[in-house]
Amino acid sequence: MRKKIAAANWKMNLTLQQGEKLLDDIIALPHTLKKHQEAVFAVPFPYLAMSQQKVAGKEHVFIAAQNVYTKKSGAYTGETSVEMLQSIGIQVVVLGHSERREYFNESNQFLADKVNICLEYNITPIFCCGEALNIREANGQNEFVGTQIKESLFHLTSDQILKVVIAYEPIWAIGTGKTASSDQAQEIHAYIRSVLAEKYGTAIANEISILYGGSVKGSNAKELFAQPDVDGGLVGGASLNAQEFVTIINSLP
Ligand code: PGA
Repeated sequence: MRKKIAAANWKMNLTLQQGEKLLDDIIALPHTLKKHQEAVFAVPFPYLAMSQQKVAGKEHVFIAAQNVYTKKSGAYTGETSVEMLQSIGIQVVVLGHSERREYFNESNQFLADKVNICLEYNITPIFCCGEALNIREANGQNEFVGTQIKESLFHLTSDQILKVVIAYEPIWAIGTGKTASSDQAQEIHAYIRSVLAEKYGTAIANEISILYGGSVKGSNAKELFAQPDVDGGLVGGASLNAQEFVTIINSLP
């Protein structure tokens, strides 16, 4: 069975003290993670070590970075390397979030390099893709997302692609309160899986977790996650509230 994942994306929010309290509150609320389920917290860089300590020894819980650079080390002021992340025990990195693509000009090719270095260091990339509103309105979402996936991931071997998690996040649904309907999510997730199947075969495509992101909340998570090709969510706003995020974790099938 492929993994079902509830991933929190704190983005550039919270102070250290607020982040500590949020993790404490989440840990204290009743939630269970079965063998095939994971909770991931993508926290700001300065809170990675604190967060790692908070979840130490908790099974199926991972702390993730929200970005990483393509180089191993060197004169790249302000950047963070996979080696650094690995040295503090980080095993997951969010890559290619639409905010990074838009504000920091991250291209499909640049993201392919980031995917490569993560895999070289055995770090799981949560690779984000998704279309803007004008593309959706012109019904171009499949082609757009297909190209993002092909250009950033299709150079990978079968063994490598199995280590990647994909997060489909329509830009028009991020932080807008406008969630894709569960039917819309299922439709494009199934398409993404078909693109993966064409390249890598059905057996491999069926093993790859595809998360949905964009205004996931406690009240809509269960319906979205019940779709056959939706394997959990990447959650921004609602992940900053302990009760909301625990409800989302508990909505994983
Ligand atoms: P949102 O953000 O849940 O606030 O819409 C999702 C994301 O950007 O990952």
